[in-house]
Amino acid sequence: MKTIKNTNFKGKKVLVRCDFNVPVKEGRITDDTRIRESLPTIEKLLSDGAAVILMSHLGRPSGTGFEAEFSLAPVAARLGELLGKPVRFTNDVFTEVTVSLSRDLQAGEVLLLENLRFIKGETKGDEAFASYLASLGNVYVNDAFGTAHRAHASTAIIAKFFPDDKYFGFLMAHEISNLEKLLHSAEHPYTAVIGGSKVSSKIDVLKNLSDKVDALLVGGGMAFTFVKAMGGKVGNSLVEEDKLDLAKEILADFGKKGVKLLLPKDSLCANRFDNEAERKVFPTMEIPDGWMGMDIGPEAVAEFEAVLNTSRSVLWNGPLGVFEMPNFSEGTLQIGRCLGKVTENGGYTAVGGGDSVAAVNRLGLAKGLSYVSTGGGAMLEYLEGKTLPGVAAIED
Ligand code: 3PG
Repeated sequence: MKTIKNTNFKGKKVLVRCDFNVPVKEGRITDDTRIRESLPTIEKLLSDGAAVILMSHLGRPSGTGFEAEFSLAPVAARLGELLGKPVRFTNDVFTEVTVSLSRDLQAGEVLLLENLRFIKGETKGDEAFASYLASLGNVYVNDAFGTAHRAHASTAIIAKFFPDDKYFGFLMAHEISNLEKLLHSAEHPYTAVIGGSKVSSKIDVLKNLSDKVDALLVGGGMAFTFVKAMGGKVGNSLVEEDKLDLAKEILADFGKKGVKLLLPKDSLCANRFDNEAERKVFPTMEIPDGWMGMDIGPEAVAEFEAVLNTSRSVLWNGPLGVFEMPNFSEGTLQIGRCLGKVTENGGYTAVGGGDSVAAVNRLGLAKGLSYVSTGGGAMLEYLEGKTLPGVAAIED
C-alpha cells in the first residue's frame, strides 16, 4: 500500500482529499471525529515542510453554487483550533483567487477549499474539474475513506493526474488494513453483529460475510423480516414484505455453511413509535398485533453477550434498536459495553456505521475498541467485497 509514511514531502504542495462531512447544526459542529481523525496526515505533511491544500465535501448540496448550510467554514475554524495554527479558507474554488492562493501558499501553511460539491463537476466526476484541482498542487493524498465509494472528481478522477505522486493518508491506510483483516484474516471465533432498520441495505454484506464468520447476531428492525420469514408473529414491527424470500435464502445459506445465526429471543416492544409509548417485553416470535419491536430484550442481550464473550473477533454494524430514543437504546448500549470488555480481554473489535459509532461514542468506548470506522456507506461497500473507486485510484 502506497502511504505517506516513508516519504518526505518537504517543499511539496500537497493536495489532500479529506472527508470533513461532519454534522453541523446552526453553524456548530456537533461531532468533530472526522476532523480529528484527519490530523495525523495533515500534521505529518506539515512537519515534513509541505504546504497543504485540503479538499472535502459536506452534505449533499444541489451543485449549483454556494449554500450556507453546507459551508465548510466551521470546519476551517475547528481545524485551526485543533492544529493550533490558522487555516486559510477560500470559497472561490474554481477561480483565479484559489489559483493564486494555492500558488502563494508557503511550507507549513494550510488552505481549505470550500465544499467541492458546490460545483457540479465534483459529483459528476468531471475530468476538467479534476484536472483543474490537480493543477493546484504537485502531490495527491487521499485520506477521505468515508467518501472512497464515490467516483467523484476529487476522490478518484484526480488521481490519474499524479501517476507517480499519489498516496493513501494515514486514516485511509488504517481503515483499509482493518477492513482487510475483517475480510481475510480475522481470528476465530469471529462474530458479526448486524443491526439497522432494513435488511435490504445489508444483503450484500451478509452474503459476503456468510463464509467468513462463525456467528451472526441480528438485531434492529431488520430482525423482524427474518422472524416473519421463519413464520413468527411480528405484530406491527417493521417488515420488508418484498424481502421475505431473500431473508429465507440468507437463513438457508448461513445454515448450510454451519454459521450460528441468532435472532433476538425477546424484544422490547412499544404500542406506538414514540419514546414515551407503553413498553412490554415479548418473545420475538410472538409479538401481538398493536405492538412493535423497538429494541432487543433482556434474554436476547444475555444470549448475544454469551456469544460475544467467547469471540476473538467481532464486527459490529448497525444499532440493535431504535437507539435515538433513550427508552429503546439499552440493548445497543449493552452490546457496546460488552464489546468494550471483549477488547479488554484481548479480542479484536471493529465498529462502523453512524448509529453504532454514536453508541460507542456515547459510552466513551471508542478508544477502548480496536477499530472504529469513519465510514458509513464506504465501510459497507468494502465489506460487500466491492472495490472502492477512491481506493482503486491510488492502487492503479
Ligand atoms: C458519508 O458521510 O457517508 C460520506 O461523507 C459520503 O457522503 P455521501 O453519501 O453524501 O457521498
